[in-house]
Amino acid sequence: MSDFLIRPLTTDDPEWVSQFISRRWGTKRVIAHGTIYYPHKLPGFVALEDNQAIGLLTYQLDQSSCEIVTLDSTRPDQGIGTALINAVLEAARRSGCERVWLITTNDNLNALRFYQKRGFELVAVHRHAVDEARRIKPEIPLVGANGIPVRDEIELELPLNE
Ligand SMILES: CC(C)(COP(=O)(O)OP(=O)(O)OC[C@H]1O[C@@H](n2cnc3c(N)ncnc32)[C@H](O)[C@@H]1OP(=O)(O)O)[C@@H](O)C(=O)NCCC(=O)NCCS
Repeated sequence: MSDFLIRPLTTDDPEWVSQFISRRWGTKRVIAHGTIYYPHKLPGFVALEDNQAIGLLTYQLDQSSCEIVTLDSTRPDQGIGTALINAVLEAARRSGCERVWLITTNDNLNALRFYQKRGFELVAVHRHAVDEARRIKPEIPLVGANGIPVRDEIELELPLNE
């Protein structure tokens, strides 16, 4: 079991965040719902063990909602992902957000399980949205997790005011 701590990202963090995202996602930019994000420019939380990043969540706040842009854990099944989610939920509540939401892709059965077990609900399937994203970012693989074609964006949300 990991002995880790969670802290918010600071202005000292962008360089390693950019490298971390590149290692995990192939490039330092991610695309969701037609928007290009540079996670190293976003607020977020890091999970640290012995000063080494073993998990990272980045997010974007607007007036009433908080979008989780990336979530990565390099040590599965040790509670890191859950701790990062709890940190962003607390930040979103403090900021007065009504909901926390995110996009994942149709192949990511692990993420669909993970988020739904933490109270997130499926709210929309954006059919063939990844085909559109691939025009901007051709390196998005055609086949993803579990050998499933990567095609659709699935939107999940957790309402905060219930
Ligand atoms: C999704 C992801 C972030 C989850 O991170 P994680 O660190 O494995 O998450 P947790 O450890 O908190 O939870 C995973 C499972 O481990 C279990 N677990 C947590 N702590 C545990 C412990 N100490 N011992 C054993 N099992 C544990 C949890 O019960 C959980 O199972 P459940 O989801 O069936 O309830 C991770 O799989 C990942 O990085 N995926 C690739 C990137 C991705 O797809 N991101 C999301 C889309 S943007």
